[in-house]
Amino acid sequence: MQVEQLACSIGAELTGVSLSDAAHDDALFAEIRKALLKHRVLFLRNQDIPRADHVAFARKFGDLEDHPVVGSDPENPGLLQIYRSAESPPERYENSWHSDTTWREVPQFGAVLRCVECPTVGGDTMWANMVLAYERLPQSVKEQIADLRARHSIECTFGAAMPTDKRHALKERFPDPEHPVVRTHADTGEKILYVNGFTTHFTNFHTASRVRVGQDHSPGSGDLLRYLISQAQIPEYQVRWRWKPNSIAIWDNSSTQHYAVMDYPACNRKMERAGIIGTRPF
Ligand code: SIN
Repeated sequence: MQVEQLACSIGAELTGVSLSDAAHDDALFAEIRKALLKHRVLFLRNQDIPRADHVAFARKFGDLEDHPVVGSDPENPGLLQIYRSAESPPERYENSWHSDTTWREVPQFGAVLRCVECPTVGGDTMWANMVLAYERLPQSVKEQIADLRARHSIECTFGAAMPTDKRHALKERFPDPEHPVVRTHADTGEKILYVNGFTTHFTNFHTASRVRVGQDHSPGSGDLLRYLISQAQIPEYQVRWRWKPNSIAIWDNSSTQHYAVMDYPACNRKMERAGIIGTRPF
C-alpha cells in the first residue's frame, strides 16, 4: 500500500490496496487505521467493491448505525443512501461545515463514504483538520474556552424544515446533547476544537467571572461561538477531494469537519456512507 499526502495539513491518498481485501485482513486494516489517525482523511480510487464489503470494512472500526432522517440501504443496514437527483428539493442540508452526528450523545468515530454516481464536474467534498484549528487559536482564546461546554441540535438542523410536530418528535428522540468545546481524541490524546454547524450555544458561558452587571466580558458568547465555528473555513486547514464513481473517503469524524460543495446543477449525485459509532466525547 502506498500513502501519498494530498495537502500539507490533512488528507492522503492510498493506492495499491483494495478495501475488499482490507475487510478480511487484520494486518492491512491495522495499517489503514494507523494512516487514518495520522492523516485524518484517506482517499482511494477505483474501489468497485460490493456493498457488503463496504459495510464489512467499516465494521472493522466498530458498529455501524442508521440515521433518523437519511435512509439506509434495506439490504445493508448502517449504509446510508445520500442520494440527490434532478428532482431533489432545492433545500440541501449537508451544505455547512460539520462533524457527523454531534447531535447524538455519542457522535460517530468516523465514516466510509463511497461515490456511486456524481456530476462530471462539481460536488467535491472538503475536510478540515480541527486539531490544527485548535492549535492555531490565540492563547487567550484557548484559556477562555478550556472548560466551556456547548449544546448540539438535530432539531435546529435536520429538523428545521419539518412541520412543528415532527420537529418536536425528532427532538424527543434525540434531545440536544452537551459536549466539551475542546475535545480530547480518544486514540491520540490530541486536543480538538469541537463546535460545528450542529452547535447552538454554550451552556456554561455566563458565569460571574465572565459577565459584569448585564455585560459580557469581550467577546460575548455568540461572537465567540461564531468565531470558533468559522475556523473550519480556513484554507490552510483543508483538503478538497474530487469524486469519481467508486472513489472512497474514510475520515476520522472526531478530529475533522467536512463540507459537501453544492456547486453543481440539478443532477444525480449518489453517495453511500457507513457511519461508525464512536465514544462519548471528553
Ligand atoms: C456527508 O457525510 O456529510 C456527505 C458528504 C458528501 O456527500 O460528500
